[in-house]
Amino acid sequence: MTDVRQTNSVVSKLFRSEQGGHEQVVLCQDRSTGLKAVIAIHSTALGPALGGTRFFPYASEDEAVEDALNLARGMSYKNALAGLDHGGGKAVIIGDPVSDKTDELLRAYGRFVASLGGRYVTACDVGTYVADMDVVATENRWTTGRSVAGGGAGDSSVLTAFGVFQGMRASAATRWGEPTLSGRRVGVAGVGKVGHHLVEHLLADGARVVVTDVRAEAVAAIRERHPEVEAVADTTALIRAGLDVYAPCALGGALDDETVPQLTASVVCGAANNQLAHPGVEKDLADRGILYAPDYVVNAGGVIQVADELHGFDFERAKAKAARIYDTTLAIFERAAADGVPPAVAADRLAETRMAERTPAQSWLAAGGVQDGPAALAG
Ligand SMILES: NC(=O)c1ccc[n+]([C@@H]2O[C@H](COP(=O)([O-])OP(=O)(O)OC[C@H]3O[C@@H](n4cnc5c(N)ncnc54)[C@H](O)[C@@H]3O)[C@@H](O)[C@H]2O)c1
Repeated sequence: MTDVRQTNSVVSKLFRSEQGGHEQVVLCQDRSTGLKAVIAIHSTALGPALGGTRFFPYASEDEAVEDALNLARGMSYKNALAGLDHGGGKAVIIGDPVSDKTDELLRAYGRFVASLGGRYVTACDVGTYVADMDVVATENRWTTGRSVAGGGAGDSSVLTAFGVFQGMRASAATRWGEPTLSGRRVGVAGVGKVGHHLVEHLLADGARVVVTDVRAEAVAAIRERHPEVEAVADTTALIRAGLDVYAPCALGGALDDETVPQLTASVVCGAANNQLAHPGVEKDLADRGILYAPDYVVNAGGVIQVADELHGFDFERAKAKAARIYDTTLAIFERAAADGVPPAVAADRLAETRMAERTPAQSWLAAGGVQDGPAALAG
């Protein structure tokens, strides 16, 4: 093959990416509405690419493409370990969601999604909401995250919290031998849509719960319903509060060089995306003997919900699938122990195996999420 000169351009990145390369990147422009969007499909090895649409005022177009590429790749791993027959994709719309979002622009975007004929299935992400997906869905059949009235499943935080709780039970089983948080002191940072549902699960399981949130009204709402919940001023106070489990449920980057040395918890399991601030933090956690449940594995309840929407949403069916997050988290910890690597590395390996072997969800789930080695779960 002719040797093509390498450049730093987006095109070069697409074809030569050391991150494994992407299948397709679509640059979308609609002059009449001002739409500028990037749809990145990382992999369709396991099925149509699935991932949300981010609406964000990127500083540059290159930054937007870079973000779409990274996010799409992350979705391949997430969907693989969620036991879905979906590959990974993600879209970004360049602009300020407050001032630039119009129905016409969203519909123009929906026509680009339609042009992919089902290779990419979209949903909500930062800056896009259920009401926006209802508008995008007027132009194609491949939009999830819609309202109940619009034929969708609505808010995904209920199943996201349920899935995080399953991951936390698996963490407890691995750390303390019993799949329960009963009697454990659990700190939840961020009691928004997901965090407040998680607190309910924890209390029902008999945990002692400590919370913090930058919004005083979010903390007050929890304490009004459950006066036994303790509140502390901020995340720094929370992580030092003699915890057994720390659940980051606010923003990304919760685990970094400053926070990890201060953690009192010996388990970290929460809903927030991208909790590890940079590569290497997963090893710092392992070196301190802290069991880290990989964020993208335990917070997959939301994507499991939107995937179910494609088949006519059935809450119980989606919940049963989200309950499998327990088995998957256990399998990851077992693989990590067998390979002598942090759980985040073990999770990536399991996802890569499933993608390489193109294992259908049914047989992958039946095998307990692992088929390639000593970590295979019995039964
Ligand atoms: N909603 C879902 O289905 C879903 C799915 C997967 C992952 N996630 C991730 O889970 C996290 C929470 O999502 P959500 O839907 O509950 O969002 P949300 O905005 O409803 O809740 C986040 C909460 O964190 C609080 N917060 C922000 N900064 C904080 C800080 N520095 N300290 C303490 N609290 C702070 C906010 O005030 C808010 O109450 C996000 O990282 C999100 O990406 C959510």
